[in-house]
Amino acid sequence: MKTIRLGVIGAGGRGHISHHAHKPENGVELVAAADVSDKPLDEFKQKFGPKAFVTKDYHELLKRDDIDAVFVTSPDFMHEEQGVAALAAGKAVYCEKPLAITLKGCDRLLETARKNRTKLFVGHNMRYMAFVRKMKEIVDSGAIGRVTTAWCRHFINYGGDAYFKDWHSERKYSTGLLLQKGAHDIDVIHWICGGYSKRVTALGALSVYDKCARRSPDVPGVKSWHDTNWPPLAQKNMSPIIDVEDQTMMLMELDNGIMASYQQCHYTPEPWRNYVFIGTEGRIENFGDHGEHCVIRLWNKRGPYREKGDVEYPVSHESEGHGGADPRIVEEFVRFVKDGGKTYASAVAARYSVAAGYLATMSLREGGKPYVVPPVKKDIVSYFDNL
Ligand SMILES: NC(=O)c1ccc[n+]([C@@H]2O[C@H](COP(=O)([O-])OP(=O)(O)OC[C@H]3O[C@@H](n4cnc5c(N)ncnc54)[C@H](O)[C@@H]3O)[C@@H](O)[C@H]2O)c1
Repeated sequence: MKTIRLGVIGAGGRGHISHHAHKPENGVELVAAADVSDKPLDEFKQKFGPKAFVTKDYHELLKRDDIDAVFVTSPDFMHEEQGVAALAAGKAVYCEKPLAITLKGCDRLLETARKNRTKLFVGHNMRYMAFVRKMKEIVDSGAIGRVTTAWCRHFINYGGDAYFKDWHSERKYSTGLLLQKGAHDIDVIHWICGGYSKRVTALGALSVYDKCARRSPDVPGVKSWHDTNWPPLAQKNMSPIIDVEDQTMMLMELDNGIMASYQQCHYTPEPWRNYVFIGTEGRIENFGDHGEHCVIRLWNKRGPYREKGDVEYPVSHESEGHGGADPRIVEEFVRFVKDGGKTYASAVAARYSVAAGYLATMSLREGGKPYVVPPVKKDIVSYFDNL
């Protein structure tokens, strides 16, 4: 059996997801890392041994013929450049979400994969989360009839800690947080509803974090996750440039007629995602999105308000990496690199989630102007369907 050899570009932070792949006993080895910082490269060598290849220039990693696949876990604004370079170098790619920060960037990545006949996989780990899978299973079973409407409310209590202190806070690096965070949720809505957005519109505002104390431009931005960073206006060391929104609301019309909405706020007291799917014979809603208290409730009888619904579905609880989703998605990526075939995550779907989030961001910056989402070219869809 040939050993699969992997590299990671952007080895710190989210780059740690690549560690789940390292299973020499199964013929899979993580052997190389590229990063612009020394610290993650030193840590990589310490963890994977002195033979590990580390570099500050990702091109050096891509030049190595002994590497089959790479994780691109660098910040969003590097995904297009590094993903295109990796695919053109013949490597299979695990690209973190969002696939890119523009619609054009996504289409360039898909086209490069098709042209070079290389595999592109996107880190939409929410498709591997227990509560999302359970909601999809319930909808697919017909328990709420034919779905007509989907809503997602996204409460983010760490917005000020994580997204307004570093690169995330600038349009030129993220486009905006509706896209940055919402890429996940738009993808989940598309997946469970079985369609892609064909028309979007949105409103949004920067309503709190522009009023917090800023750091000086010559001090590097550092995320700092502390429960004591409360209330939100007490946050300090915010980015000198903040030109992204901290609350957004987006409407989607899907190509199968389903209507959906997504709302995001970055300064709530508690963090979770609340989804509602309504069909012709009932509705489901999740309470909590991980952990032992997470439950999905189904209402399918007419009557007065019933707190517990008509049926309750407990959701299995795992503690590792986003409720077990991270090891599961990496395992599927490795299988995809080896054997190809269908996967839960989809590069074409990832492009549609960026397309919708990107155009919704353009919409909210133009007072809610509606945008039509262009479809992916047929030859590209067919290439990815047959991998
Ligand atoms: N799927 C998920 O659940 C999930 C969770 C967190 C982050 N993410 C995504 O992962 C990516 C990384 O996020 P993060 O918070 O770890 O970011 P980060 O800013 O911490 O950067 C990650 C690493 O990339 C390195 N890096 C920065 N610029 C680079 C460059 N030009 N070339 C190579 N390396 C570079 C940094 O030094 C760092 O080690 C983002 O795209 C983010 O959206 C996904």
